[in-house]
Amino acid sequence: MYPMSSRTRPSRAESPFDLKAQAAYVAWREHKLANHPASSTELMVEIADGRAPSEAEVAAIGRALSRANVAFYRLKSPRPGDKAMLRALGRRLGLERLDNNLCADGDGISSLSVVEKRAPGEYIPYTNRPLNWHTDGYYNAPDEQIRGVILHCVRPAAEGGGNAFMDHEIAYILLRDANPDYIRALMAPDAMSIPPNVQDGVEIRARRTGPVFSVDAGGRLHMRYSARARNIEWKADSTTQAAAEYLLSLFQQDSPYIFRHRLEAGEGVISNNALHCRSGFSHQNGETSRLLYRARYFDRVMIPETGAGEPHVVS
Ligand SMILES: [Fe+2]
Repeated sequence: MYPMSSRTRPSRAESPFDLKAQAAYVAWREHKLANHPASSTELMVEIADGRAPSEAEVAAIGRALSRANVAFYRLKSPRPGDKAMLRALGRRLGLERLDNNLCADGDGISSLSVVEKRAPGEYIPYTNRPLNWHTDGYYNAPDEQIRGVILHCVRPAAEGGGNAFMDHEIAYILLRDANPDYIRALMAPDAMSIPPNVQDGVEIRARRTGPVFSVDAGGRLHMRYSARARNIEWKADSTTQAAAEYLLSLFQQDSPYIFRHRLEAGEGVISNNALHCRSGFSHQNGETSRLLYRARYFDRVMIPETGAGEPHVVS
């Protein structure tokens, strides 16, 4: 068992994400804030063998995820180019169904590196420019939402390329504390639309409309978001617009809830698709250029408890 009180596990009957269930929200909120990490180092787990992590290592990943929806790992003896490690590690954590998005390699895992001479409208992950706050796959279809992500660093940039994270459950708390109507607006099924992706007159992806916050079948909070204004059309309603502005403001000031980490070679991050961004970085072609592997899953991290019993979904 992981050392979690029942308050970290929202019950379906009394969901803290239900605006009518104030007592459940208050209890969950208090526990969440009390356990928030002061820095990324509290979320770091050393792993001896990424292809076969031990039960203790998996449990430590589970504890980090339960606190912040983010866990960092550091392989003791990384092997460059080891995508099989990433796949095996994901499977050990219940991450199975990969999103074979437009940019994934044939194995469903994307190699994030700077790609020269991309067409206009290029995807920023493949440049060295800063990447604004977002959750992954916010433009995906409703039944293909990204719930789990692993990012593994093969080679860092010479300079820059650090990530910052904010637990999307913390963003929910900050919004709800400011004004519960913000939550009501952002849970509306027409809160946020992403224009279609059209290239050379061909529609590659249809327009997507959906909520920012939703609750999955297991009672867990999910978030779709991008701070890039040109990517998003907000519902033309004053409360939605105010909620979007407030959400954006969370990233434009210093915050005890933003934690930063630059992945070094052999390090990675496992996330229940928490909010994140990336700074720009230096780039030189060739063997020294930054390279990260990214696996995006339709699954959320699910770690079976040791012994008999129901699988334990890490919150
Ligand atoms: Fe991302």
